[in-house]
Amino acid sequence: MKRRDFVKLGSLAAVTSLYPQKSDASAITFKKAFTQKLAIPPIAEYKEENGVKIYNLSVQEGKMDFLNGAKTSTYGINGDFLGPTIRVKDKDKIKINVANNLRETTTMHWHGLRIKGSSDGGPHNIINPNTTWSADIDIDQKASMCWYHPHAIGKTGRQVFMGLAGIFLIDDDETKGVDLPSEYGVDDIPLVLQDRRFDNLGEFLYSQNMMDTMMGVTGNVHLINGVIDPVVEVEPKAVRFRFLNGSNARIYNLMFEKQNDFFQVAGDSSLLPAPVKLSNFIIAPGERAEIVVDFSKYAGKTLYFGDGFDKRVLLKIVVKNSKPQPMKLPEKLVTIDEYKDKKATNTRDFRLNMSMGFLGINEKQMDMNRIDERVKKDRFEIWRITNRSPRPHPFHVHGTGFSIISRDGSKPLINEMGLKDTVLVYSRETVEILVRFKYDADANTPYMYHCHILEHEDGGMMGQFTVEA
Ligand code: C2O
Ligand code: CU
Ligand code: CU
Repeated sequence: MKRRDFVKLGSLAAVTSLYPQKSDASAITFKKAFTQKLAIPPIAEYKEENGVKIYNLSVQEGKMDFLNGAKTSTYGINGDFLGPTIRVKDKDKIKINVANNLRETTTMHWHGLRIKGSSDGGPHNIINPNTTWSADIDIDQKASMCWYHPHAIGKTGRQVFMGLAGIFLIDDDETKGVDLPSEYGVDDIPLVLQDRRFDNLGEFLYSQNMMDTMMGVTGNVHLINGVIDPVVEVEPKAVRFRFLNGSNARIYNLMFEKQNDFFQVAGDSSLLPAPVKLSNFIIAPGERAEIVVDFSKYAGKTLYFGDGFDKRVLLKIVVKNSKPQPMKLPEKLVTIDEYKDKKATNTRDFRLNMSMGFLGINEKQMDMNRIDERVKKDRFEIWRITNRSPRPHPFHVHGTGFSIISRDGSKPLINEMGLKDTVLVYSRETVEILVRFKYDADANTPYMYHCHILEHEDGGMMGQFTVEA
């Protein structure tokens, strides 16, 4: 089925032993690190009909030349790997047609969007091969960087690993007046972080054994926007980086090699109330974070940005030797009052279960035919998420942006005071969030809550809920 080309691999064939073996990428000669230019995902085109912006996405197979000459089989959206950036404005009415040109079923979920369940693209919105599914979306939320990815039951991890993911940018009037770098791809740069591993034929290695399921699939090769070990050139001025952790399971501790300061200005689903000065931050799968870096101090210099957990450079940044433009960062960014002084009328508990051979929530594994929770629309509730396992789990909720109210009874972290849709719950920790849902999701297309380690999600650490009046 796979067209595997031994000839092109040259010396690689020599290391393939007599007995078939899978190996990791250590046998492969990579393109020289940090010489490839960072790619910027193109902005998706649309046509407007009767005030509705219409987007067409094609989910398809592709080939990418990640390694020297070995063409890797991939999936992509309107291309070989990843997808275009969908950029919309609050109050836009849009329709997205998703054509499945794969040879297997998929779905397309808009992670972070506050939309009705029937357009959410969860596991029930199945798109069969050679068919098209359409999502009608009324954008109704704060400016933020959301994203999209498949959500087919038991297949999410592999399909995202193959390359199905894209950015979904939302602008609004409130942030138009906030003076932040905003030239897409120039001083406002999206960075989709992913890691991959390859087999010795140059194909993605996504075999899923018990170990992969429990640990989550990580890789020794790092991609940003689909480019291995990229370099980006910036002007000596304030530059905004918008990070999406699009990895299946890797949690990053992002920082400069020299631990230079920067300001975090946004989390998942909104800007922060004010910039927060940091020299590192942790980002788990599904989460987003936006930072502004003052490069005016580094004209003509090269900086390295990377992951402190893995002690690994991810991005080389070359600052041009032109005239520095000093940074002026607003003191206040946005007002977040959705949850202010709101009293919850109900509390729900979510216990994240991970023990040998069992992944679940509240002692149950995901079942498409069971509704786990029934939530009333527009009510404020406390959701209490408890992790007694030894591993941190990023807990994600569909159809909302929530507010973190406490971690083990203490205040949330200073860089998570904005709206969130994914929260990393550390080992032995209990996190309380205040949540509300503004749209309906009935039992045919319920919303999901789940761990965003995709192998955990696929392994059953997910539940379904309805939202009704
Ligand atoms: Cu990003 Cu339910 O997913
Ligand atoms: Cu989601
Ligand atoms: Cu998990």
